[in-house]
Amino acid sequence: MKSYHLTTFGCQMNEHDSERMKGMLESLGYHEAGSREEANLILFNTCSIRESADSRFIGHLGEAKRLKSEDPSRVVGVGGCWSQSMKERVFDQFPFVDVAFGPGQVNRLAEFLTSDSITAQGYFEFEGFTGHLPMRRAREFQAWVQISVGCNCVCSYCIVPSTRGREVSRPADELVAEVERLAADGVREVTLLGQNVNSYGRDLPKGHKATFAELLAKVDAVEGIERLRYTSPHPKDMREDVIRAHAELPSLCEHIHLPLQSGSSRVLKAMRRTYDRERYLDRVRMIRDIVPDCSITTDIIVGFPGETEHEFEATLEVVEEVRYDSAFTFVFSPRRGTAAAELPEQLPHAVKRPRMERLVDAVQRIAAERSQRFVGRTMEVLVEGPSRTDPERLRGRIRHNKTVNFARDVARSAEPGRLVDVPIASATSTTLAGKQRERMETDAKDSASMRNPSTDAKDSASMRADPSAVA
Ligand code: 5AD
Ligand code: SF4
Repeated sequence: MKSYHLTTFGCQMNEHDSERMKGMLESLGYHEAGSREEANLILFNTCSIRESADSRFIGHLGEAKRLKSEDPSRVVGVGGCWSQSMKERVFDQFPFVDVAFGPGQVNRLAEFLTSDSITAQGYFEFEGFTGHLPMRRAREFQAWVQISVGCNCVCSYCIVPSTRGREVSRPADELVAEVERLAADGVREVTLLGQNVNSYGRDLPKGHKATFAELLAKVDAVEGIERLRYTSPHPKDMREDVIRAHAELPSLCEHIHLPLQSGSSRVLKAMRRTYDRERYLDRVRMIRDIVPDCSITTDIIVGFPGETEHEFEATLEVVEEVRYDSAFTFVFSPRRGTAAAELPEQLPHAVKRPRMERLVDAVQRIAAERSQRFVGRTMEVLVEGPSRTDPERLRGRIRHNKTVNFARDVARSAEPGRLVDVPIASATSTTLAGKQRERMETDAKDSASMRNPSTDAKDSASMRADPSAVA
C-alpha cells in the first residue's frame, strides 16, 4: 500500500491546505506513515514568512534527500509558500525534488501522482480556489473554512502577496453550505480563514456581493455551530459592523486578533500598512466600548529598517495603552522580492535583539495581568484533549482563546468536543488553571442555555455585552 509523510510549516492557512492534502491523498489510496523512512511519498507544506522558516525547512529537506538517495523510487514533493517563492530555482538547487507546487494547489499534486510523468513537475499558476477536495480534519469538532485566497495588500515587508496572489473570495452561499455540512458532521467551532478577512466579498460579482459582517451573521445562524472565530483582519478594513457582530452574534467569540506591526505612524507608512497609530487606537477604543471584555491579540515587528529608538518606544507605548492579552512578536526579517528588504537602513542584530527583549517583557507582563481577570470566574471551555504537561488533566479553550488546564473530575461530560463550565483558580500570561465544576451531562449540542447569562451573570454581562446596554 502506498504511504505518505507530510510535514507542515507556517500558518493556519497552511495547516488547512495540509488537511486537504491528507484528505486527497487518502482518497487516492495512500495511508499516513509514522515516519519519513516508512513513506513512499515525502511531502512538505512550506512557509517563507521569515528567514527562520526557510532554514528550518531546509534542514528537513536534507533528510528527504538522503532517503531519496537510499531509495530512488521515493517521491519528494514540496508545496506552499517557500515553494512558490523559489519556483525558478527549486529544481536547480534541489534536483531530488519530484514535484513542487504553490499554496492551495493540492489538486495539482493529485494530477501529478495519478499521471505517468517521470520528470519533475512544477505547478505555480494562481488559480483561486481549487475546487472541493476531501478534507481530513485534525479534530472532528473544529474546522477551518477558507473564505478567500490571496491578498491585495502591499505591506513592504511581506512575501505573502507574491506567494498567494490576488485576493479571490468564495461566494457566501457556498461557504454557508460548507459550514452546514461541517455542522452536520459534528463540527462545533469554525474558524474563517483569509489573509485579510474583512476585505472579504468586495471582489464578488454584482448580485453576490456580501460584506464580512454579513458572512459572519450567516455562519452564526447555522444550527450546531457554537463558536465562530476568524483570522486575520486588517486594521484598515476593521469596521464597526464587524465589531458589533462580536456583541450581537451568540457564536462569535470575544477575541479579536488585530495585527499592529508598529506603534509609530512613520514606520507604519514605510510598511505601507495604510493606517496610522491613531486610527489603530481608535479601532481598539471601539472594541473596548462595544465588547468590553474582548481579548485583543496582535502581531508586532521589531527592527523594521530605519526604526529609531524613539519609534520603537512608540510601539511600547501602544502595547501599554492597548494592553494585549497576548502578542506574537517578530524580529524584522528581509524577504526576497519585498520592498523592505531593499531599504538602505537595515538594522544590526545588536539593535534588534535588545528591542525584542524589551518588547517581550512588556507583552508578558501585561498578558499576565490581563489573565487575572478570569480568576474567580466560571468560564465556558471547549474541551480539546488531555493537558500537554499532565495527562491526568484536561485541556481546552475559553471563548477568549486562552488555554485552560483543569482536573477531569467528571469524566463523561469532559470528552473532547464538549463544552463544560470551569471555575478558574489561577492564571499565567499564557494559560489558565481551573477545576471542573460538577455539572453532569453538558453536551455541546444542548448547551444553548450556557451562552445565556444563566451560568454566571457577571461573566456573561461583560462577555457578550448587549450593545444597547453599553452604549
Ligand atoms: N519579518 C518579520 N515578521 C514578519 N511578518 C510578516 N513578514 C515579516 C517579515 N519580513 C509577521 C507579521 C505578520 C505575521 C504573520 O508575521 O507580523 O502579521
Ligand atoms: Fe502562511 Fe505567510 Fe507562511 Fe505562507 S508565508 S505559509 S501565508 S505565514
